[in-house]
Amino acid sequence: MLSITALLMNPTSFISIILLALVWTACGQEKTETATPAETQAAAETVSYTETYRPQYHFSPAINWMNDPNGMVYYEGEYHLFYQYNPFGDTWGHMSWGHVVSTDLVHWEHLPVALLEEDGVMIFSGSAVVDWNNTSGFGTADAPPLVAIYTGHYPANEHQEQHIAFSTDRGRTWTRYDGNPVLDRYDKDFRDPKVIWHEPTAQWVMVVARSAEHTIQFYGSPNLKDWTFLSEFGPVGSVEGLWECPDLFELPVNGDSTRTRWVLQVDVGSGAVAGGSGAQYFMGDFDGATFRPDDTNTRWVDYGKDFYAAVSWSDVPAADGRRLWLGWLNNWQYAQEIPTGPWRGAQSIPREVVLREDDQGVYMAQIPVEELNVLRGEQYQAKALPIKAGTAPLTDTGLDGRALEIIAEFEPGQASEFGLKVRVGPDEETVVGYDVASETVFVDRQRSGAVDFHKDFPGKQTAPLSPEDGRVRLHLFVDWSSIEVFAGHGRVVITDRIFPSPESDGLALYATGGPARLLSLDMWEMGSVWD
Ligand code: FRU
Repeated sequence: MLSITALLMNPTSFISIILLALVWTACGQEKTETATPAETQAAAETVSYTETYRPQYHFSPAINWMNDPNGMVYYEGEYHLFYQYNPFGDTWGHMSWGHVVSTDLVHWEHLPVALLEEDGVMIFSGSAVVDWNNTSGFGTADAPPLVAIYTGHYPANEHQEQHIAFSTDRGRTWTRYDGNPVLDRYDKDFRDPKVIWHEPTAQWVMVVARSAEHTIQFYGSPNLKDWTFLSEFGPVGSVEGLWECPDLFELPVNGDSTRTRWVLQVDVGSGAVAGGSGAQYFMGDFDGATFRPDDTNTRWVDYGKDFYAAVSWSDVPAADGRRLWLGWLNNWQYAQEIPTGPWRGAQSIPREVVLREDDQGVYMAQIPVEELNVLRGEQYQAKALPIKAGTAPLTDTGLDGRALEIIAEFEPGQASEFGLKVRVGPDEETVVGYDVASETVFVDRQRSGAVDFHKDFPGKQTAPLSPEDGRVRLHLFVDWSSIEVFAGHGRVVITDRIFPSPESDGLALYATGGPARLLSLDMWEMGSVWD
């Protein structure tokens, strides 16, 4: 799996290979803890980022296990991304906060693990804020602290409570608050605090999940240390799985800042639209104490199987104004068995979240951030052309089909189904299609490559999508082991992991039942963020 050739080409990496081999061996022997975090950090330096299935422009840790994104906050020109991390192995355990920063949302710089499991307390998911007014007293008026709010998880007695830690050096080092916990209900499943500053009531507001009860609780605080119960929301919507990783933010509708809705996003550990874990959202009003939903319909954030635990960045400057997030590219059904190594886990591309309104009401749309355009390399464009019934391989693109951005517009014509096939090889293909009769867009990964590592992996994920002015527009991001499909200008998204062989780099257009029409096709080879 590792590109040994790449390592051998660098004569100074010999010692690193030995170190990596040691760590890798240690990782294979479940949680023997023979590798310290410092050793794993050192081993990380030697990773080639060209291993089979290594995402080229999605963030993944150099080695070991990662799940949820955590503590996302923007401060002094840097986007911080913390993440649930096991420094000792490639399956879930020893949860700690790994840490990377980026100035452009595209290239990520590895930093040491920010918060390590300590004294039997795991660092579960949570958020971070810039405490601009130094309400916590951890910084000074001139130098505001970063404050992380997370769940302290006690595996010994299955207890979860909310803790805080702070940094006064741009997130480089973190100190746990000696008054922890700051919030304790003596609960087993009480986790994933997301904290926002609510300007109208001039207080911090925490949304936090009572997972097994399928409720979200709201708490208020003047200083991030003392929290008062405000209200509780739920159970409503999708309640089969544990509720986790809530987020709360206000967004303008159709860009009109005089008309806003609040979005309450809630993940479900199982029972999501594509099976297993996924994310739902509610829209409504929030007055600083109570969230009142416009309705309690279940709305899905993503129709694929692999977008979980998304939370948005805090403190993105007002001049920018975007609500930005990314999610974990995985599903708890098979997360620990996906066939990657020496790391396991990746994050989605960063996306902007917006609210739009049409005659059927207000809905969330997700837009890939334009910062990703810097990765666009060689371009291929096709003119409008008919797609005859059948499959038409695109053999003249000259592009490496393993990592691509694709924007394609179609007219259904007489076809019953049409679309694109990506990562095509002799026995492999991932189909991104549109079914005319049911007005659905889908990703079919049944023949996408390695699929039999878990019974719940192979399948077809479907999302409702009416044509716009008789047209279907698909915006795809294909990487070495994932595909994200934004359809109808981000109205629906399907995010899926795929594990094709490196040789499967072909592309094709297809139609069934009759001819369809390709109106336009723009494709770019995507560069690697690790080069
Ligand atoms: C979601 C989750 C969170 C929890 C974390 C533990 O994937 O289960 O609820 O804080 O992962 O790693």
